[in-house]
Amino acid sequence: MFDRIHHAGLAVANLLDAKRVFADGLGLRVDTTRSPLPGGNLQRGPDPTDILDIPIGNAELELNAPPVDGTPPGGTHRFVQARGGVGALHHICLHSTNVADDVAHLRASGLTQIAAPPEQIASNEPWQQVAFFHPRDCLGVLLEIWTPDNHRVGDRYQGAGVFTRLHHIGVVTADLEAARRLWCNVMGFRVDTLRTPALKGGRLVEREHVRVLAIPLGGDSGGIVAVLPEDAASGTARFLARYGGAADGTMHHLAFATRDVSAAADFVRDRGLELVGPVDADFAWIHPRSAGGVLIQIVRETR
Ligand SMILES: [Fe+2]
Ligand SMILES: [Fe+2]
Repeated sequence: MFDRIHHAGLAVANLLDAKRVFADGLGLRVDTTRSPLPGGNLQRGPDPTDILDIPIGNAELELNAPPVDGTPPGGTHRFVQARGGVGALHHICLHSTNVADDVAHLRASGLTQIAAPPEQIASNEPWQQVAFFHPRDCLGVLLEIWTPDNHRVGDRYQGAGVFTRLHHIGVVTADLEAARRLWCNVMGFRVDTLRTPALKGGRLVEREHVRVLAIPLGGDSGGIVAVLPEDAASGTARFLARYGGAADGTMHHLAFATRDVSAAADFVRDRGLELVGPVDADFAWIHPRSAGGVLIQIVRETR
């Protein structure tokens, strides 16, 4: 079973530029036990990337950049180029309590596994047991499955303490019921019926012209918020039309929890990030052009 988000995977053009946003800009720190090298971990498989891990609460932001050592770049580089050349949300990684069982379940549910080979999943080496599933079967979201992992980040990695956890990952979709089937029926999670009581139609967020379904993923790691554009004119609708592809969906934004939205907005503004739209007691938004190509929502912590 899946019990939490392990990380949000970001594809970025330049690792150090992205670190300036996602670590320095948000007051977070690189996890130097996971990614000890300043230039990132050098992952040299079929899609070579340099990786930095930045914990937030019990989840992480995983920055993936094309290699700077001359290794020919692969799919991550092409993805960044297709998304404007700076960066974009790339994949969602779920922590699994049993990779072999969960991979078998997802395959039986009709999802297409694109990595790793069966003998690798069956290996006794936990780091071999990382699986990927094709976005076309996951409403446009590339899905990674992470091996059972007791790594917990300590308080020292929480940085300035402005942002306390990943609140949710926003996924835009043309079909909320399909999102509910994927994340609940297949993945085993439940809709938060207090926050989003209207199961079929979602909750209308008038200010954003969207309907949403909130699906907590447990472990204080944040959840999924499935977002359906309510009309064709909203920015969310344009994003879906531009990047949704054949799956009619894709990752849309990251939301971080904070005790004080106004103070957090001032904090990121002072560090060069650009706010967009109104800042109120509950929400603020950071423009992607100042944040490595990624739309970021600041959400008031309510618990
Ligand atoms: Fe990943
Ligand atoms: Fe959101």
